[in-house]
Amino acid sequence: DWTSEQFIEATVAELKTQIGNDKVVLGLSGGVDSSVAAMLIHQAIGKNLYCIFVDNGLLRKDEFETVLDSYKHMGLNVKGVDAKEKFYSALAGLTDPEQKRKAIGRVFIEVFDDEAHQIEDVKWLAQGTIYPDVIESVSVKGPSATIKSHHNVGGLPDFMKLKVVEPLKTLFKDEVRLVGKALHIDDIIIGRHPFPGPGLAIRILGDVTPEKVHVLQQVDHIFISNLKKSGLYDEVWQAGAILTPVQSVGVMGDERTYENVVALRAVTSVDGMTADWSRLPYEFLADVSNEIINKVKGVNRVVYDISSKPPATIEWE
Ligand code: XMP
Repeated sequence: DWTSEQFIEATVAELKTQIGNDKVVLGLSGGVDSSVAAMLIHQAIGKNLYCIFVDNGLLRKDEFETVLDSYKHMGLNVKGVDAKEKFYSALAGLTDPEQKRKAIGRVFIEVFDDEAHQIEDVKWLAQGTIYPDVIESVSVKGPSATIKSHHNVGGLPDFMKLKVVEPLKTLFKDEVRLVGKALHIDDIIIGRHPFPGPGLAIRILGDVTPEKVHVLQQVDHIFISNLKKSGLYDEVWQAGAILTPVQSVGVMGDERTYENVVALRAVTSVDGMTADWSRLPYEFLADVSNEIINKVKGVNRVVYDISSKPPATIEWE
């Protein structure tokens, strides 16, 4: 039987032999996977692991600062890089979801590559790839069945002649969490919902601007903090908000408004491959909706997504 302790012991030993005294670079995303991968490798090689955490301007509200702090507390050798403007300019005017993903992937690789070049004689690239990432990336069957290009699998530029190390490649998410717990990683990182690499960009339908990101961050923050306050956060697999380009009429005092519609999405799932919408209590949804409409300028209507995957996907883009 699989246990996290055995996995850790075997993997750390393997990493030590595999890597020796080489230097390794790893991109932290704030998510469970990259964080657990980092801590495992850190156990094996300590300060020879160089972590890079890029602020792509598409993270949740205050996420970059909070998470960077907890990484430092965990003893990781981590560098935070503010690349917001680069991502925003690459995204300007793009509306097609795949083009948005590609632009984000490309800028990430550029930024990451610049940073990696500053680490003298680095030999390895570590990634937090888990088993479902591997499957979704190889099961592309053609244009009609194209599964989104997850930018954390493959896609390495040739000029980065690094060897790849992926210690979580055989694990499912729940196993990654168990390993993380056994490694004493902070609960705020371990218990965290999955969050897509392209971040809020694929939850802003259509083109992305810093202003839209700001609006969505506020909406998302209200939703997520209410889930936490009500003890519902751990019961859903993933939750977030979508900023739609649809405007609808509303009324505020004596004024007629014409503002954006946001959608809330919360799903239950075991591995993200299939999912069902969470039956969140009506009262909870009512409170969140009121708070969003009262507090967030530019939003006058909230809807709840009741689609399951398949045939819908978790994300809207
Ligand atoms: P979908 O929307 O395909 O999402 O049902 C399944 C899971 O994958 C995440 N997701 C992504 N993660 N890059 C990522 O790193 C992406 O481009 C991407 N698209 C979707 C999604 O958040 C969900 O957890």
